[in-house]
Amino acid sequence: MSLCCYLEYILIVVGVIFAFIAVADKLISKKRDLKGKHVMITGGSSGIGLSVAHEVAGRGAHVTLIARNIANLEKAKADVEATVANSVAGGKVQIFSVNLGCDSDAVSSVIKDAEAVLGPVYMLVNCAGFSRAQKFEELSPQVVKSVMDVNVLGSFFITQEAVRSMKQQQEGIIVFTSSQGGLLGLYGFSAYSAAKGALIKLAEALHMEVKPYNITVTVCCPPDTDTPGFEEENKTKPTETKLISEAAGLFKPEEVAHKLVEDALAGKFMTTNGLEGFMLTALCAGMGPITDLKSFLAQVLLSGVFRAVSAFYLWSFDRIVYKEYQQRMSSKKAE
Ligand SMILES: NC(=O)c1ccc[n+]([C@@H]2O[C@H](COP(=O)([O-])OP(=O)(O)OC[C@H]3O[C@@H](n4cnc5c(N)ncnc54)[C@H](OP(=O)(O)O)[C@@H]3O)[C@@H](O)[C@H]2O)c1
Ligand SMILES: *[C@@H]1O[C@H](CO)[C@@H](O)[C@H](O)[C@H]1NC(C)=O
Ligand SMILES: *[C@@H]1O[C@H](CO)[C@@H](O)[C@H](O)[C@H]1NC(C)=O
Repeated sequence: MSLCCYLEYILIVVGVIFAFIAVADKLISKKRDLKGKHVMITGGSSGIGLSVAHEVAGRGAHVTLIARNIANLEKAKADVEATVANSVAGGKVQIFSVNLGCDSDAVSSVIKDAEAVLGPVYMLVNCAGFSRAQKFEELSPQVVKSVMDVNVLGSFFITQEAVRSMKQQQEGIIVFTSSQGGLLGLYGFSAYSAAKGALIKLAEALHMEVKPYNITVTVCCPPDTDTPGFEEENKTKPTETKLISEAAGLFKPEEVAHKLVEDALAGKFMTTNGLEGFMLTALCAGMGPITDLKSFLAQVLLSGVFRAVSAFYLWSFDRIVYKEYQQRMSSKKAE
């Protein structure tokens, strides 16, 4: 037999194994549903969070939205209520204005206030966050602190409150929104990658703690997603960051939200979109929790290959960085 026949044979066997596992996974996994459940979404007034609100409202959940700006919250509430009106199951929608980046008293009371109306929180989706792409030495102390406060502590403290309640219920789903830039450090994202990377380790530790209580933890690592937040990030983004992050394409918030909810309901630890996302999450799985057979086998069988493929990506990223550097140097000389 020639080499290429062997390869074909191996590919077919691998394909059959994966198809088998995909079917087995579907049969084994007891998919939870959200009908009549209380879902709380931070950052629910815009972008990915707002899309998650539509997604869960369409599945019959009651929804609590948290953000700072009241006008945006009220507009989002009306939007999500329109989705509820169009779906068969009629959920309720309520809003709370809280600054998750600093307001610690408000954070500790918001779960109680929200639960008083809609019952125990069954699912908490932490979407509030923002990114600032700037060169390392140009990031102001205020921006660095705020990136950490909102992205890390803003998820940490409200999740503590939610976990207290979920442990009593012996059920629940926690979602953190990290980023593909939390799986690997990227040019311009020194503060943001540090914050989003911290969320992944926080999620790993929490997953181990709450597992006996029938609570699952999911981390969402979206690629570039077309949201108001992304447009804002665009304003200070160095060219290098733009060119590098473009490699994974631009996704719609609805796609990210749909996958997030599906994977969280299935109890998967990681959720992402696109081929680069699949590769990155398999490659960066490390000692993270094993929550489903399909992802686990992808990690075991493909990590080596993906590490080899990463060399190509890293090489092209280095080229982008070096080219911009040379351009800067030559324009300096010209002055
Ligand atoms: N879009 C992307 O390309 C992308 C990629 C990877 C990861 N992500 C992550 O996904 C999440 C959502 O991003 P997005 O692009 O959808 O953002 P977005 O459109 O800017 O929405 C952010 C939401 O968070 C709220 N928020 C921000 N700071 C807050 C604070 N201190 N306290 C309470 N609420 C706060 C905002 O409302 P207020 O301003 O009214 O408070 C808004 O509802 C973020 O964590 C982001 O880092 C985004
Ligand atoms: C775990 O939670 C699910 C809902 O998320 C529930 O259907 C199931 O009965 C719970 N299992 C236990 C053992 O409490
Ligand atoms: C980002 O900014 C560039 C100009 O710097 C513009 O061409 C591009 O359309 C912007 N993209 C988004 C999504 O706002």
